Amino acid sequence: MLDLREAVASPFDGQSPEARAIATLFSQTLVVCGVIFAIVAVLVGYCVLAFRARKGAKEPPQTEGHTRLEIAWTIAPLLVVVGLFVLTARAMAAADPPADRPADMTVIAHQWWWEARYPSGAVTANEIHMPTGTPWLVDLRSDDVIHDFWVAELGRKIDIIPGHATHVWLQADKAGTYTGACAEYCGSQHAWMRITVVAQSPDEFAAWQRHELASPPPPSTDAASRGAQLFNDHTCSQCHAIGATANVDRARIAPDLTHLAERTTLAAGLLDNTPDNLGRWLKSPQSLKPSCHMPSLQLTDAQVNDFVAYFETLR
Ligand code: CUA
Repeated sequence: MLDLREAVASPFDGQSPEARAIATLFSQTLVVCGVIFAIVAVLVGYCVLAFRARKGAKEPPQTEGHTRLEIAWTIAPLLVVVGLFVLTARAMAAADPPADRPADMTVIAHQWWWEARYPSGAVTANEIHMPTGTPWLVDLRSDDVIHDFWVAELGRKIDIIPGHATHVWLQADKAGTYTGACAEYCGSQHAWMRITVVAQSPDEFAAWQRHELASPPPPSTDAASRGAQLFNDHTCSQCHAIGATANVDRARIAPDLTHLAERTTLAAGLLDNTPDNLGRWLKSPQSLKPSCHMPSLQLTDAQVNDFVAYFETLR
């Protein structure tokens, strides 16, 4: 399992102008509300103490209506609300500008994984790559229920409603790996719907994308060849694509496996991508991620080993 401290990114640690605009708005609102809270608390405390009931005290004078006071306590909150509105509108403009060009990529949410498609034809899952230093426009869709795409360090949070395309701007100041998650309850495995964003220099990103478009090398060992045969004999290929078959222009049933061995996690963040974990996953996906759409295929240990040998060649 992943270390949770590593896996959960902080929304207060913005690594892009968009994310920082949101974090700044939060801090500003917190300060304004903190000042109001302090003023109200002090006044209430003063009134409770200064005007508390004393034995034998006469009833204080009763006044009704105070025009200047009433105008003041109407205008002061109005100014606070207008001020917060202006700050919010500015943060929204910075974090969520309208989409003014074709998207740089499409991300499709599924129960419980993310499909990532690039206009070049590259397809991957649960791990998206993007270049650093430039706003990156992501077209978002859902294949089933309402999900929510959230990579806190790079951009805003956005609901994805089936049948309704939406978008989000991501940007990364510096190269690195950023974790995100589905932020809208979408079924039993909602918690294991993590997404990893790998931000790379534009050159590295271009190289990655060229590599993604290439088919993996043919299996070179006996075990890997047997694994490839098993993949075709079982029903795997009806849901998962590998290589050239990957370039179909429709949402998938299951993650693309063309370069599976290069991804960092399995099952949308549930497991580190190691041969051991891959074997465990193939042996019993339903005990690791109950009710996910990957069936338990009742594989023998020898078959699991062959599958793993084959999948490890998918680079
Ligand atoms: Cu998808 Cu929660």
